[in-house]
Amino acid sequence: MATKWVTEKDEKGYYWPSDEMKKYANMADVDIFKKASQNPEEFWAEKAKENIHWFEPFSKAYEWNPPHFKWFIGGKTNASYNCLDRHVISGKGDKTAIIWVPEPTEEKAVKISYAELLEKVKKFSNILKKLGVKKGDRVGIYLPMIPEVQIAMLACARIGAIHSVCFSAFSGDSLKTRLIDSNAKVLITSDGYYRRGKPLNLKNNADIAVEGTSVEHVIVVKRAGVEVEMKEGRDHWFHELMEEASNECEAEKMDSEDYLFILYTSGTTGKPKGIVHETGGYLTQADLTCRWLFDLHEEDVFWCTADVGWITGHTYNCYGPLSVGATLLLFEGAPDYPDKDRWWKEIEEHKVTIFYTAPTAIRMFAQWGDSYVKKHDLSSLRLLGTVGEPIDEDAWMWFFETVGGSRCPIIDTWWQTETGAVMISELPGIGPFIPTVAGKPLPGVKAEIVDEGKNPVSGGEGGYLILKSPFSPGMLRTVYNDDEKYVKTYFTEYGPEIYFTGDGARWFDEENIRVTGRIDDVMKVAGHRLSTGEVENAIASHEKVSECAVVPKPHQIKGEVPVAFVVLKGVEPSDELKQELVAHVRKEIGPTAKPEEIYFVNDLPKTRSGKIMRRMLKSLLTNQPLGDATTLQNAETIKHLKEVTGYEG
Ligand code: WTA
Repeated sequence: MATKWVTEKDEKGYYWPSDEMKKYANMADVDIFKKASQNPEEFWAEKAKENIHWFEPFSKAYEWNPPHFKWFIGGKTNASYNCLDRHVISGKGDKTAIIWVPEPTEEKAVKISYAELLEKVKKFSNILKKLGVKKGDRVGIYLPMIPEVQIAMLACARIGAIHSVCFSAFSGDSLKTRLIDSNAKVLITSDGYYRRGKPLNLKNNADIAVEGTSVEHVIVVKRAGVEVEMKEGRDHWFHELMEEASNECEAEKMDSEDYLFILYTSGTTGKPKGIVHETGGYLTQADLTCRWLFDLHEEDVFWCTADVGWITGHTYNCYGPLSVGATLLLFEGAPDYPDKDRWWKEIEEHKVTIFYTAPTAIRMFAQWGDSYVKKHDLSSLRLLGTVGEPIDEDAWMWFFETVGGSRCPIIDTWWQTETGAVMISELPGIGPFIPTVAGKPLPGVKAEIVDEGKNPVSGGEGGYLILKSPFSPGMLRTVYNDDEKYVKTYFTEYGPEIYFTGDGARWFDEENIRVTGRIDDVMKVAGHRLSTGEVENAIASHEKVSECAVVPKPHQIKGEVPVAFVVLKGVEPSDELKQELVAHVRKEIGPTAKPEEIYFVNDLPKTRSGKIMRRMLKSLLTNQPLGDATTLQNAETIKHLKEVTGYEG
């Protein structure tokens, strides 16, 4: 019988860690929250010293000049050294760092040891140097889920270059915006990758993106054998460069506050913003959350299904698990290829112990039915995790019972691209695990729920989720090239001393928080973060469109989907035009952003000052009361919208 890591449900509907779990877990001290909150600065400083290697120690833990803050002042460290060298030096060179599972089943899984990974990273670091990349330079990474992505990230970290990863399903145009904003010198991409059995071309997108930017060199990994054009002098094959590269490369001694990476994410405006994460603080929190939250032990195999193009992939498919010296599983392909049991097959085959995924995926698998899961022995699993959007009770229970066999706790982890690592969750050794409830702010994290007047809300009342100083070390330091945006987006709503998350939340009981979702113009589409403004900009850039509004609509599997209301420039609406607009959005952003529905309308509801009333459109789609129409300059449009959409509002 496989070990039971949770108790039965108690009378309140809570699950708790079993005695076995309490004994086994890296952190099971129920007083840890109180201890950490007495002096969070000291708490984080202690963890940084315990878990991270410093070339030179820091002299001070925290400095706060609202709204800016710094951690581990004067400390010198290197993320690549922490993720690789120190494990090899301590004799763990032979341990598997990455199990890479290619999508085609004819290809065997590849195990890469820490020593091998270190050697490759050193070589690739030398290649970057040879191409002129220096400390502080930006490097774009546009790669699928292949180990070269970790090699590229860690090589940048090693020499102090700042990487900016772009999700490989984003379009060439999306990549271009990111390359321009970050002024990248080099781009690392691949010829293509496999998706549902087909090799897809990625290099073509990269070619579109690079044109007219500051990128001087493109390094291309050969993965899918698709035909690509290599531009003489600019494009280089990864494998050819690697053959000649030296495998000696010392890790650069980076200041704790030196930037480690930029990751672009969607905000309330149309343009993605470059979230900046620094070195020492980010690594400390990525590392600690892997130890305490994902409870990584020596023998664990950790599978986080997030793509490296998102923050979850950065922190839990690269820096966190490698910093603690764990084994991570990297899967290239689609969850339903060649069949809908692919994930469960891999869990069985590689004896995955910790499995971290998104509610969207869980809802999709639940709909496909239990039989795909039941075909496989999942008794290796000890802990399950979710992230990215609120999880409903049905999905939680299905994950718990069918995947976890009612044996494994589920941690529902709340965090953001901006926070760098998990902020709110239960700890597996402490609990409780409550369906639909994320849980407690982690030790050393200060989160509160307040009303519009900054007053803490009580009981089960809804409010806004905020964070307070000392801000945890993994949090963003600024928005790249736009500190004003940093101040405006996060530290204006409640003043310079309070970080505004953009999420609504409420207390489920005295200690545990339920996060209800975004209250701004950010959507979560199949767990992917998108702004309504971004999709609006994409549609509005089409020559036949006069103006448009995009709002999220609830969706059974994907959580939310974008719906567009489009006013045309005197051309006749048609189904072909709808298709054309969908294709246009795919080209401008990528397939994740494509509108689920498009309505051609005469006019959009606007206030007297000309602001589009998106809230009204959102209510219309969910058949909610539309609110006061007297504030509109064009109240007659409501009737028209109802006719066109068929919704009653
Ligand atoms: C949402 C993903 C409810 C939230 C790591 C947040 C969640 C946004 C949860 C950040 C959760 C993330 N429960 N909602 N456990 N986790 N969210 O930047 O709205 O892609 O603000 O980071 O996802 O999305 P991002």
